[in-house]
Amino acid sequence: MNIIIVKDYEEMSRKAAHLFVAQILNKPNSVLGLATGSTPMGLYKELIRFFNEGMISFQSATAFNLDEYVGLEKEHPQSYWRFMQENFFTKVDLPVERQFIPSGVAEDIAAESYNYDKNITSKGGIDLQVLGIGRNGHIGFNEPDLKFEARTHVVKLDEQTIEDNARFFDDISMVPTLAISMGVKTIMQSRSIILLASGKEKGEAIKKMLSGNITPELPASVLQLHPSVTAIIDLAAASMLD
Ligand code: F6R
Repeated sequence: MNIIIVKDYEEMSRKAAHLFVAQILNKPNSVLGLATGSTPMGLYKELIRFFNEGMISFQSATAFNLDEYVGLEKEHPQSYWRFMQENFFTKVDLPVERQFIPSGVAEDIAAESYNYDKNITSKGGIDLQVLGIGRNGHIGFNEPDLKFEARTHVVKLDEQTIEDNARFFDDISMVPTLAISMGVKTIMQSRSIILLASGKEKGEAIKKMLSGNITPELPASVLQLHPSVTAIIDLAAASMLD
């Protein structure tokens, strides 16, 4: 794993954006794996800036998001579909028909999950996947103790994840308890991965991720087995490293 320690959130976002820009310039029809949450918002801002300056185009790219809450309609203010519209998709030229996010309201969620992986494979697989990390070490919504071989599937969110994500909802009781998420196996099949971490609350998870111990109890630890991971970690998130 290539570990880059940076000063702060802004530098993390800039460095991540540079890797995305290089990916798009090298391969305009790249398949990008995208994430939601606070962590990648700065990355999306930087990419929008590069797009507005005419340096890159997403015209030929394809995007697959990691996850979506089960039970939230697309238009729900906290759906990840809505997050991606507001923070990225409506601000760049990535064609609508190549923006993929799993549906949290599919009648048959098992079929939705199966078809999501099939669709990724049919587009040639993910070239570059961006990941945040949960305080409990989750990647996507793969919570501790889920098997590493899981593909896209329905997951029950941990209490801690529900608490963490309650900041986006009016009340903690409104946070969905289930999500549909790419599995660890789906994520590990990406050709390259960028893991981003900012803030001292991620310190413990980062320390465990890099401890050398690979265990489903700390899902991000599996990334130590991937041949092409760049972890961009700010000083606060790296503060527990020796
Ligand atoms: C989001 C996702 C999650 C988040 C993680 C960190 O699509 O899959 O794994 O990356 O929960 O969230 P933030 O960035 O809000 O701290």
